[in-house]
Amino acid sequence: MTDAVNVDYSTKIPNNVGLTEDRQVLRGLESWHPGYLDWWKDMGPDGFQDSLVYLRTAISVDPKGWAKFDYVRMPEYRWGVLLAPKEEGRKVNFGAHLGEDAWQDVPGEYRAMLRRLIVIQGDTEPASVEQQRHLGRTAPSLYDLRNLFQVNVEEGRHLWAMVYLLHKYFGRDGREEANDLLKRRSGDADKPRMLGAFNEATPDWLSFFMFTFFTDRDGKMQLESLAQSGFDPLSRTCRFMLTEEAHHMFVGETGVGRVLERTCQAMKQAGIEDPNEIARIRALGVIDLPTIQKKLNVHYSLTLDLFGSEISTNSANFYNSGLKGRFQETKIDDDHRLTDATYPVMRLIDGKLTEVQVPALTALNLRLRDDYTVDCARGVERWNKLIEKTGVSFRLQLPSSAFNRKVGEFRDVNATPKGLLISDAEWARVRDEYLPNSSDGDFIDSLMHAESEPGRYAGWIAAPKVGIDNKPGDFEYVKIAA
Ligand SMILES: [Fe+2]
Ligand SMILES: [Fe+2]
Repeated sequence: MTDAVNVDYSTKIPNNVGLTEDRQVLRGLESWHPGYLDWWKDMGPDGFQDSLVYLRTAISVDPKGWAKFDYVRMPEYRWGVLLAPKEEGRKVNFGAHLGEDAWQDVPGEYRAMLRRLIVIQGDTEPASVEQQRHLGRTAPSLYDLRNLFQVNVEEGRHLWAMVYLLHKYFGRDGREEANDLLKRRSGDADKPRMLGAFNEATPDWLSFFMFTFFTDRDGKMQLESLAQSGFDPLSRTCRFMLTEEAHHMFVGETGVGRVLERTCQAMKQAGIEDPNEIARIRALGVIDLPTIQKKLNVHYSLTLDLFGSEISTNSANFYNSGLKGRFQETKIDDDHRLTDATYPVMRLIDGKLTEVQVPALTALNLRLRDDYTVDCARGVERWNKLIEKTGVSFRLQLPSSAFNRKVGEFRDVNATPKGLLISDAEWARVRDEYLPNSSDGDFIDSLMHAESEPGRYAGWIAAPKVGIDNKPGDFEYVKIAA
Protein backbone atom coordinates (compact mmCIF):
# COMPACT_ATOMS: atom_id res chain seq x y z
CA MET A 1 0.00 0.00 0.00
CA THR A 2 1.70 3.19 -1.11
CA ASP A 3 -1.03 5.63 -0.21
CA ALA A 4 -1.86 7.17 3.08
CA VAL A 5 -4.83 5.55 4.74
CA ASN A 6 -5.34 8.63 6.85
CA VAL A 7 -6.52 11.90 5.53
CA ASP A 8 -4.54 15.13 5.45
CA TYR A 9 -6.60 17.88 7.08
CA SER A 10 -3.92 20.56 6.83
CA THR A 11 -5.21 21.87 3.51
CA LYS A 12 -8.60 23.50 3.12
CA ILE A 13 -9.63 20.37 1.25
CA PRO A 14 -9.11 17.23 3.33
CA ASN A 15 -7.61 14.55 1.11
CA ASN A 16 -5.48 11.45 0.84
CA VAL A 17 -4.25 12.22 -2.65
CA GLY A 18 -1.27 14.38 -1.73
CA LEU A 19 -2.81 17.71 -2.69
CA THR A 20 -0.18 19.62 -0.71
CA GLU A 21 2.40 18.54 -3.29
CA ASP A 22 0.03 18.96 -6.19
CA ARG A 23 -0.19 22.76 -6.12
CA GLN A 24 -1.92 23.22 -9.42
CA VAL A 25 -4.79 20.86 -8.68
CA LEU A 26 -5.03 22.21 -5.12
CA ARG A 27 -5.34 25.76 -6.44
CA GLY A 28 -7.95 24.63 -8.97
CA LEU A 29 -10.04 22.98 -6.29
CA GLU A 30 -9.62 25.92 -3.94
CA SER A 31 -11.01 28.20 -6.60
CA TRP A 32 -13.93 25.83 -7.20
CA HIS A 33 -14.69 25.69 -3.45
CA PRO A 34 -16.52 29.07 -3.02
CA GLY A 35 -18.87 28.28 -5.90
CA TYR A 36 -19.58 24.94 -4.29
CA LEU A 37 -20.44 26.60 -0.98
CA ASP A 38 -22.71 29.07 -2.76
CA TRP A 39 -24.43 26.16 -4.44
CA TRP A 40 -24.77 24.36 -1.10
CA LYS A 41 -26.30 27.40 0.55
CA ASP A 42 -28.69 28.05 -2.36
CA MET A 43 -29.64 24.50 -3.23
CA GLY A 44 -28.69 22.40 -0.20
CA PRO A 45 -30.97 21.70 2.78
CA ASP A 46 -33.40 24.56 3.16
CA GLY A 47 -33.48 26.15 6.60
CA PHE A 48 -30.96 24.14 8.62
CA GLN A 49 -27.65 25.64 7.64
CA ASP A 50 -26.96 26.96 11.15
CA SER A 51 -28.15 23.88 13.01
CA LEU A 52 -25.71 21.47 14.61
CA VAL A 53 -26.08 18.05 13.02
CA TYR A 54 -24.59 14.86 14.39
CA LEU A 55 -22.76 13.75 11.23
CA ARG A 56 -20.14 11.26 10.31
CA THR A 57 -17.09 12.51 8.46
CA ALA A 58 -14.67 10.26 6.63
CA ILE A 59 -11.28 10.57 8.27
CA SER A 60 -9.60 7.55 6.76
CA VAL A 61 -10.15 4.99 4.04
CA ASP A 62 -9.33 2.10 6.34
CA PRO A 63 -12.35 -0.22 6.04
CA LYS A 64 -12.14 -1.01 9.77
CA GLY A 65 -12.62 2.55 10.97
CA TRP A 66 -13.02 5.35 8.49
CA ALA A 67 -15.55 7.63 10.08
CA LYS A 68 -15.92 9.86 13.07
CA PHE A 69 -19.18 11.32 14.41
CA ASP A 70 -19.62 14.82 15.77
CA TYR A 71 -21.87 17.86 15.71
CA VAL A 72 -21.23 19.97 12.62
CA ARG A 73 -22.90 22.91 10.92
CA MET A 74 -23.40 21.65 7.41
CA PRO A 75 -21.66 24.50 5.56
CA GLU A 76 -18.62 23.70 7.74
CA TYR A 77 -18.64 20.00 6.87
CA ARG A 78 -15.19 18.87 5.72
CA TRP A 79 -15.89 17.62 2.22
CA GLY A 80 -12.79 15.78 1.23
CA VAL A 81 -11.20 13.98 -1.68
CA LEU A 82 -10.69 10.36 -0.77
CA LEU A 83 -9.53 7.48 -2.87
CA ALA A 84 -9.40 3.85 -1.78
CA PRO A 85 -5.82 2.58 -1.40
CA LYS A 86 -3.98 1.69 -4.56
CA GLU A 87 -3.76 -2.01 -5.31
CA GLU A 88 -0.27 -2.82 -6.52
CA GLY A 89 -0.18 -4.60 -9.85
CA ARG A 90 -3.82 -3.94 -10.69
CA LYS A 91 -4.74 -4.77 -14.30
CA VAL A 92 -7.40 -3.85 -16.81
CA ASN A 93 -9.81 -6.69 -16.17
CA PHE A 94 -12.02 -6.69 -19.27
CA GLY A 95 -12.41 -5.51 -22.83
CA ALA A 96 -9.84 -5.07 -25.59
CA HIS A 97 -7.07 -4.14 -23.12
CA LEU A 98 -7.62 -7.13 -20.83
CA GLY A 99 -4.44 -7.98 -18.92
CA GLU A 100 -2.64 -4.66 -19.48
CA ASP A 101 -1.57 -2.65 -16.46
CA ALA A 102 -4.37 -0.42 -15.17
CA TRP A 103 -3.96 3.16 -16.39
CA GLN A 104 -2.75 5.79 -13.93
CA ASP A 105 -3.36 8.45 -16.56
CA VAL A 106 -6.15 9.03 -19.02
CA PRO A 107 -5.59 7.04 -22.21
CA GLY A 108 -5.67 9.71 -24.94
CA GLU A 109 -7.97 7.81 -27.27
CA TYR A 110 -10.63 7.43 -24.56
CA ARG A 111 -10.40 10.87 -23.05
CA ALA A 112 -13.78 12.15 -24.25
CA MET A 113 -15.61 8.97 -23.31
CA LEU A 114 -14.06 8.88 -19.87
CA ARG A 115 -14.84 12.51 -19.19
CA ARG A 116 -18.44 11.88 -20.17
CA LEU A 117 -18.74 8.96 -17.75
CA ILE A 118 -17.35 11.06 -14.92
CA VAL A 119 -19.57 14.05 -15.69
CA ILE A 120 -22.73 11.91 -15.85
CA GLN A 121 -21.92 10.31 -12.51
CA GLY A 122 -20.94 13.68 -11.04
CA ASP A 123 -24.19 15.30 -12.17
CA THR A 124 -26.37 12.89 -10.20
CA GLU A 125 -24.71 13.78 -6.88
CA PRO A 126 -25.77 17.43 -6.48
CA ALA A 127 -29.05 16.63 -8.25
CA SER A 128 -30.32 14.46 -5.40
CA VAL A 129 -29.37 17.12 -2.84
CA GLU A 130 -31.47 19.59 -4.82
CA GLN A 131 -34.36 17.15 -5.03
CA GLN A 132 -34.35 16.67 -1.27
CA ARG A 133 -33.77 20.23 -0.16
CA HIS A 134 -37.25 20.93 1.23
CA LEU A 135 -37.67 17.72 3.18
CA GLY A 136 -36.02 18.96 6.38
CA ARG A 137 -39.10 21.03 7.19
CA THR A 138 -41.30 17.94 7.51
CA ALA A 139 -38.91 15.39 9.00
CA PRO A 140 -40.75 12.76 11.08
CA SER A 141 -38.00 12.87 13.75
CA LEU A 142 -34.58 14.29 14.54
CA TYR A 143 -33.13 10.86 13.76
CA ASP A 144 -34.57 11.01 10.23
CA LEU A 145 -33.59 14.63 9.82
CA ARG A 146 -30.01 13.72 10.63
CA ASN A 147 -30.06 10.82 8.17
CA LEU A 148 -31.34 13.09 5.42
CA PHE A 149 -28.50 15.52 6.04
CA GLN A 150 -25.94 12.73 6.22
CA VAL A 151 -27.02 11.53 2.79
CA ASN A 152 -26.92 15.12 1.52
CA VAL A 153 -23.40 15.94 2.72
CA GLU A 154 -22.11 12.65 1.35
CA GLU A 155 -23.65 13.30 -2.06
CA GLY A 156 -21.82 16.61 -1.82
CA ARG A 157 -18.60 14.71 -1.16
CA HIS A 158 -19.27 12.46 -4.13
CA LEU A 159 -19.49 15.57 -6.25
CA TRP A 160 -16.11 16.61 -4.85
CA ALA A 161 -14.70 13.23 -5.78
CA MET A 162 -15.77 13.58 -9.41
CA VAL A 163 -14.63 17.20 -9.55
CA TYR A 164 -11.20 16.14 -8.31
CA LEU A 165 -10.91 13.69 -11.21
CA LEU A 166 -11.97 16.39 -13.67
CA HIS A 167 -9.44 18.89 -12.33
CA LYS A 168 -6.61 16.45 -11.97
CA TYR A 169 -6.88 14.58 -15.26
CA PHE A 170 -8.76 16.72 -17.78
CA GLY A 171 -7.16 20.16 -17.70
CA ARG A 172 -9.15 23.12 -18.90
CA ASP A 173 -12.18 21.24 -20.23
CA GLY A 174 -12.31 19.28 -16.99
CA ARG A 175 -12.44 22.52 -15.02
CA GLU A 176 -15.22 23.80 -17.27
CA GLU A 177 -17.22 20.62 -16.73
CA ALA A 178 -16.66 21.01 -12.97
CA ASN A 179 -18.10 24.52 -13.12
CA ASP A 180 -21.07 23.34 -15.15
CA LEU A 181 -21.86 20.75 -12.48
CA LEU A 182 -22.70 23.69 -10.22
CA LYS A 183 -24.85 25.41 -12.85
CA ARG A 184 -27.38 22.75 -13.77
CA ARG A 185 -30.40 22.42 -11.48
CA SER A 186 -32.75 19.51 -10.86
CA GLY A 187 -36.04 20.10 -12.64
CA ASP A 188 -34.93 23.37 -14.24
CA ALA A 189 -36.56 24.01 -17.63
CA ASP A 190 -33.45 25.59 -19.15
CA LYS A 191 -30.57 23.88 -17.36
CA PRO A 192 -31.86 20.56 -16.06
CA ARG A 193 -29.74 17.77 -14.61
CA MET A 194 -28.59 15.24 -17.19
CA LEU A 195 -30.75 12.22 -16.32
CA GLY A 196 -34.55 12.05 -16.11
CA ALA A 197 -35.09 10.61 -12.63
CA PHE A 198 -32.86 13.34 -11.21
CA ASN A 199 -35.26 16.00 -12.45
CA GLU A 200 -38.31 14.54 -10.70
CA ALA A 201 -39.61 15.92 -7.43
CA THR A 202 -39.08 14.14 -4.11
CA PRO A 203 -42.27 15.53 -2.60
CA ASP A 204 -42.48 13.70 0.73
CA TRP A 205 -40.62 11.41 3.10
CA LEU A 206 -42.02 8.19 1.70
CA SER A 207 -40.60 9.30 -1.65
CA PHE A 208 -37.29 10.08 0.02
CA PHE A 209 -37.09 6.57 1.46
CA MET A 210 -38.08 5.01 -1.87
CA PHE A 211 -35.53 7.21 -3.62
CA THR A 212 -32.71 6.17 -1.32
CA PHE A 213 -33.73 2.54 -1.65
CA PHE A 214 -34.18 2.48 -5.43
CA THR A 215 -32.25 5.40 -6.92
CA ASP A 216 -29.25 5.32 -4.59
CA ARG A 217 -29.12 1.63 -5.45
CA ASP A 218 -28.78 2.56 -9.10
CA GLY A 219 -25.92 4.74 -7.84
CA LYS A 220 -24.43 1.68 -6.21
CA MET A 221 -24.64 -0.33 -9.46
CA GLN A 222 -23.08 2.46 -11.51
CA LEU A 223 -20.30 2.90 -8.95
CA GLU A 224 -19.73 -0.85 -8.87
CA SER A 225 -19.25 -0.95 -12.61
CA LEU A 226 -17.02 2.14 -12.60
CA ALA A 227 -15.03 0.64 -9.71
CA GLN A 228 -14.04 -2.03 -12.26
CA SER A 229 -12.58 0.64 -14.55
CA GLY A 230 -9.16 0.22 -16.08
CA PHE A 231 -8.63 3.90 -15.30
CA ASP A 232 -7.31 3.32 -11.81
CA PRO A 233 -8.07 6.72 -10.20
CA LEU A 234 -11.74 6.33 -11.16
CA SER A 235 -11.81 2.82 -9.77
CA ARG A 236 -10.29 3.92 -6.47
CA THR A 237 -12.63 6.89 -6.17
CA CYS A 238 -15.73 4.77 -6.74
CA ARG A 239 -14.59 2.06 -4.36
CA PHE A 240 -14.52 4.53 -1.52
CA MET A 241 -17.84 6.13 -2.52
CA LEU A 242 -19.45 2.70 -2.25
CA THR A 243 -18.71 2.53 1.46
CA GLU A 244 -20.79 5.68 1.95
CA GLU A 245 -23.51 4.60 -0.46
CA ALA A 246 -24.33 1.63 1.77
CA HIS A 247 -25.71 3.99 4.42
CA HIS A 248 -27.96 5.74 1.89
CA MET A 249 -29.60 2.45 0.98
CA PHE A 250 -29.86 1.57 4.66
CA VAL A 251 -31.79 4.81 5.20
CA GLY A 252 -34.16 3.86 2.38
CA GLU A 253 -34.67 0.25 3.33
CA THR A 254 -35.20 0.86 7.04
CA GLY A 255 -37.26 3.97 6.31
CA VAL A 256 -39.79 2.09 4.18
CA GLY A 257 -39.59 -0.82 6.63
CA ARG A 258 -40.57 1.43 9.52
CA VAL A 259 -43.50 2.85 7.55
CA LEU A 260 -44.72 -0.68 6.78
CA GLU A 261 -44.33 -1.70 10.39
CA ARG A 262 -46.31 1.26 11.67
CA THR A 263 -49.13 0.77 9.16
CA CYS A 264 -49.48 -2.94 9.91
CA GLN A 265 -49.37 -2.28 13.65
CA ALA A 266 -52.14 0.33 13.38
CA MET A 267 -54.26 -2.00 11.24
CA LYS A 268 -53.89 -4.80 13.77
CA GLN A 269 -54.75 -2.54 16.70
CA ALA A 270 -57.86 -1.33 14.90
CA GLY A 271 -58.83 -4.86 13.91
CA ILE A 272 -58.62 -4.16 10.18
CA GLU A 273 -57.73 -7.29 8.21
CA ASP A 274 -58.22 -6.07 4.65
CA PRO A 275 -55.36 -3.86 3.39
CA ASN A 276 -57.76 -2.42 0.80
CA GLU A 277 -59.95 -0.69 3.38
CA ILE A 278 -58.10 2.44 2.47
CA ALA A 279 -60.37 5.06 4.03
CA ARG A 280 -60.46 3.30 7.40
CA ILE A 281 -56.70 2.75 7.38
CA ARG A 282 -55.95 6.33 6.42
CA ALA A 283 -58.20 7.54 9.19
CA LEU A 284 -55.69 5.96 11.59
CA GLY A 285 -53.08 8.43 10.34
CA VAL A 286 -50.93 5.82 8.60
CA ILE A 287 -50.16 5.16 4.94
CA ASP A 288 -52.14 2.25 3.50
CA LEU A 289 -50.16 -0.56 1.88
CA PRO A 290 -51.62 -0.18 -1.65
CA THR A 291 -50.40 3.43 -1.68
CA ILE A 292 -46.95 2.29 -0.58
CA GLN A 293 -47.00 -0.16 -3.49
CA LYS A 294 -47.85 2.72 -5.87
CA LYS A 295 -44.91 4.73 -4.56
CA LEU A 296 -42.69 1.71 -5.07
CA ASN A 297 -43.99 1.40 -8.65
CA VAL A 298 -43.13 4.95 -9.54
CA HIS A 299 -39.65 5.00 -8.01
CA TYR A 300 -38.63 1.62 -9.37
CA SER A 301 -39.77 2.39 -12.92
CA LEU A 302 -38.15 5.86 -12.95
CA THR A 303 -34.92 4.32 -11.74
CA LEU A 304 -34.92 1.61 -14.43
CA ASP A 305 -34.80 4.45 -16.95
CA LEU A 306 -31.42 5.51 -15.51
CA PHE A 307 -29.79 2.38 -16.91
CA GLY A 308 -30.44 3.62 -20.45
CA SER A 309 -31.61 1.64 -23.46
CA GLU A 310 -31.47 -2.12 -23.21
CA ILE A 311 -29.45 -2.25 -26.40
CA SER A 312 -26.71 0.34 -26.60
CA THR A 313 -23.52 0.70 -28.59
CA ASN A 314 -22.25 3.21 -26.01
CA SER A 315 -22.26 0.53 -23.34
CA ALA A 316 -20.35 -1.77 -25.71
CA ASN A 317 -17.76 0.96 -26.30
CA PHE A 318 -17.36 1.70 -22.60
CA TYR A 319 -16.74 -1.98 -21.99
CA ASN A 320 -14.44 -2.64 -24.94
CA SER A 321 -12.34 0.34 -23.95
CA GLY A 322 -11.92 -0.99 -20.42
CA LEU A 323 -13.62 2.04 -18.87
CA LYS A 324 -16.80 0.57 -17.36
CA GLY A 325 -17.16 -3.07 -16.45
CA ARG A 326 -19.97 -5.30 -15.33
CA PHE A 327 -21.23 -5.68 -11.78
CA GLN A 328 -18.56 -7.76 -9.97
CA GLU A 329 -16.67 -8.21 -13.24
CA THR A 330 -13.70 -9.96 -11.68
CA LYS A 331 -15.93 -12.59 -10.06
CA ILE A 332 -17.60 -13.57 -13.34
CA ASP A 333 -16.30 -16.75 -14.92
CA ASP A 334 -16.01 -15.98 -18.65
CA ASP A 335 -13.55 -14.46 -21.16
CA HIS A 336 -14.20 -10.83 -20.05
CA ARG A 337 -14.20 -9.75 -23.70
CA LEU A 338 -17.68 -10.93 -24.71
CA THR A 339 -16.83 -10.94 -28.40
CA ASP A 340 -19.00 -13.98 -29.14
CA ALA A 341 -21.34 -14.01 -26.14
CA THR A 342 -25.06 -13.29 -26.28
CA TYR A 343 -27.53 -12.06 -23.68
CA PRO A 344 -31.33 -12.43 -23.52
CA VAL A 345 -33.34 -9.23 -23.96
CA MET A 346 -37.10 -8.69 -23.74
CA ARG A 347 -38.08 -6.83 -26.86
CA LEU A 348 -41.29 -5.55 -28.29
CA ILE A 349 -41.87 -7.50 -31.47
CA ASP A 350 -45.16 -7.18 -33.36
CA GLY A 351 -46.71 -5.73 -30.24
CA LYS A 352 -45.66 -8.63 -28.02
CA LEU A 353 -43.01 -9.00 -25.33
CA THR A 354 -40.57 -11.47 -26.80
CA GLU A 355 -37.23 -12.69 -25.49
CA VAL A 356 -34.41 -12.54 -28.04
CA GLN A 357 -30.68 -13.18 -27.83
CA VAL A 358 -28.50 -10.20 -28.74
CA PRO A 359 -24.71 -9.68 -28.69
CA ALA A 360 -23.81 -9.44 -25.00
CA LEU A 361 -21.63 -6.38 -25.59
CA THR A 362 -24.59 -4.32 -26.71
CA ALA A 363 -26.77 -5.50 -23.81
CA LEU A 364 -24.54 -4.38 -20.94
CA ASN A 365 -26.93 -1.69 -19.75
CA LEU A 366 -29.60 -4.35 -19.43
CA ARG A 367 -27.27 -6.78 -17.74
CA LEU A 368 -26.42 -4.20 -15.09
CA ARG A 369 -30.12 -3.42 -14.75
CA ASP A 370 -30.92 -7.11 -14.30
CA ASP A 371 -28.33 -7.33 -11.54
CA TYR A 372 -29.97 -4.26 -10.02
CA THR A 373 -33.40 -5.87 -10.15
CA VAL A 374 -32.10 -8.93 -8.31
CA ASP A 375 -30.68 -6.66 -5.61
CA CYS A 376 -33.96 -4.72 -5.33
CA ALA A 377 -35.99 -7.92 -5.16
CA ARG A 378 -34.01 -9.08 -2.12
CA GLY A 379 -34.82 -5.85 -0.32
CA VAL A 380 -38.50 -6.10 -1.23
CA GLU A 381 -38.49 -9.64 0.15
CA ARG A 382 -37.11 -8.32 3.45
CA TRP A 383 -39.99 -5.81 3.52
CA ASN A 384 -42.44 -8.63 2.87
CA LYS A 385 -41.00 -10.56 5.80
CA LEU A 386 -41.67 -7.53 8.03
CA ILE A 387 -45.29 -7.38 6.86
CA GLU A 388 -45.70 -11.13 7.26
CA LYS A 389 -44.46 -10.99 10.84
CA THR A 390 -47.24 -8.60 11.79
CA GLY A 391 -49.82 -11.05 10.47
CA VAL A 392 -51.14 -8.69 7.79
CA SER A 393 -51.69 -10.42 4.49
CA PHE A 394 -50.13 -8.29 1.77
CA ARG A 395 -47.09 -8.57 -0.45
CA LEU A 396 -45.15 -5.80 -2.17
CA GLN A 397 -43.95 -6.52 -5.68
CA LEU A 398 -41.60 -5.03 -8.23
CA PRO A 399 -43.53 -4.09 -11.37
CA SER A 400 -42.61 -5.43 -14.80
CA SER A 401 -39.75 -3.67 -16.57
CA ALA A 402 -42.27 -2.69 -19.26
CA PHE A 403 -44.32 -0.67 -16.76
CA ASN A 404 -44.22 3.15 -16.86
CA ARG A 405 -41.06 3.50 -18.90
CA LYS A 406 -39.75 6.59 -20.67
CA VAL A 407 -36.49 5.11 -21.93
CA GLY A 408 -35.70 2.01 -23.99
CA GLU A 409 -37.73 -0.76 -25.54
CA PHE A 410 -41.03 0.01 -23.75
CA ARG A 411 -41.08 3.78 -23.84
CA ASP A 412 -43.95 3.97 -26.31
CA VAL A 413 -46.32 1.39 -24.84
CA ASN A 414 -48.54 1.15 -21.79
CA ALA A 415 -48.09 -1.86 -19.58
CA THR A 416 -49.61 -2.96 -16.30
CA PRO A 417 -47.29 -3.85 -13.40
CA LYS A 418 -47.70 -7.47 -14.46
CA GLY A 419 -46.41 -6.60 -17.94
CA LEU A 420 -49.70 -6.82 -19.80
CA LEU A 421 -49.75 -4.37 -22.72
CA ILE A 422 -52.84 -2.17 -22.77
CA SER A 423 -54.27 0.61 -24.95
CA ASP A 424 -54.02 4.32 -24.19
CA ALA A 425 -57.69 4.37 -23.24
CA GLU A 426 -57.31 1.41 -20.91
CA TRP A 427 -54.21 2.98 -19.37
CA ALA A 428 -56.08 6.23 -18.74
CA ARG A 429 -58.73 4.20 -16.93
CA VAL A 430 -56.39 2.17 -14.69
CA ARG A 431 -53.44 4.50 -14.22
CA ASP A 432 -54.53 5.62 -10.76
CA GLU A 433 -54.57 2.04 -9.51
CA TYR A 434 -50.87 1.71 -10.23
CA LEU A 435 -49.32 5.12 -9.74
CA PRO A 436 -49.94 7.69 -7.00
CA ASN A 437 -52.68 10.11 -7.98
CA SER A 438 -53.20 13.61 -6.65
CA SER A 439 -55.45 12.50 -3.79
CA ASP A 440 -52.82 9.94 -2.67
CA GLY A 441 -50.32 12.78 -2.77
CA ASP A 442 -52.60 15.07 -0.78
CA PHE A 443 -53.16 12.40 1.84
CA ILE A 444 -49.43 11.71 2.29
CA ASP A 445 -48.84 15.43 2.38
CA SER A 446 -51.36 15.81 5.17
CA LEU A 447 -49.22 13.51 7.34
CA MET A 448 -45.98 15.35 6.75
CA HIS A 449 -45.39 17.44 9.87
CA ALA A 450 -42.04 17.92 11.52
CA GLU A 451 -41.47 16.12 14.80
CA SER A 452 -38.55 17.81 16.49
CA GLU A 453 -38.72 16.52 20.08
CA PRO A 454 -35.75 14.16 20.69
CA GLY A 455 -36.92 10.53 20.73
CA ARG A 456 -40.35 11.29 19.23
CA TYR A 457 -41.63 10.04 15.88
CA ALA A 458 -44.47 11.11 13.63
CA GLY A 459 -47.46 8.79 13.87
CA TRP A 460 -47.02 7.26 10.41
CA ILE A 461 -43.58 5.78 11.02
CA ALA A 462 -42.14 3.43 13.66
CA ALA A 463 -39.03 4.27 15.68
CA PRO A 464 -35.79 2.66 14.46
CA LYS A 465 -34.44 -0.43 16.22
CA VAL A 466 -31.07 1.17 17.00
CA GLY A 467 -29.68 4.68 16.99
CA ILE A 468 -26.95 6.08 14.76
CA ASP A 469 -23.50 5.53 16.30
CA ASN A 470 -25.30 3.51 19.01
CA LYS A 471 -26.86 6.61 20.50
CA PRO A 472 -29.82 6.17 22.87
CA GLY A 473 -33.43 6.66 21.75
CA ASP A 474 -33.81 10.23 22.96
CA PHE A 475 -30.51 11.47 21.52
CA GLU A 476 -30.67 14.96 20.02
CA TYR A 477 -29.37 14.22 16.52
CA VAL A 478 -29.97 17.76 15.35
CA LYS A 479 -29.76 20.85 17.52
CA ILE A 480 -32.04 23.07 15.54
CA ALA A 481 -30.90 26.68 15.43
CA ALA A 482 -33.66 29.12 16.25
FE1 LIG B 1 -23.61 9.54 -4.38
FE1 LIG C 1 -26.18 8.06 -2.48
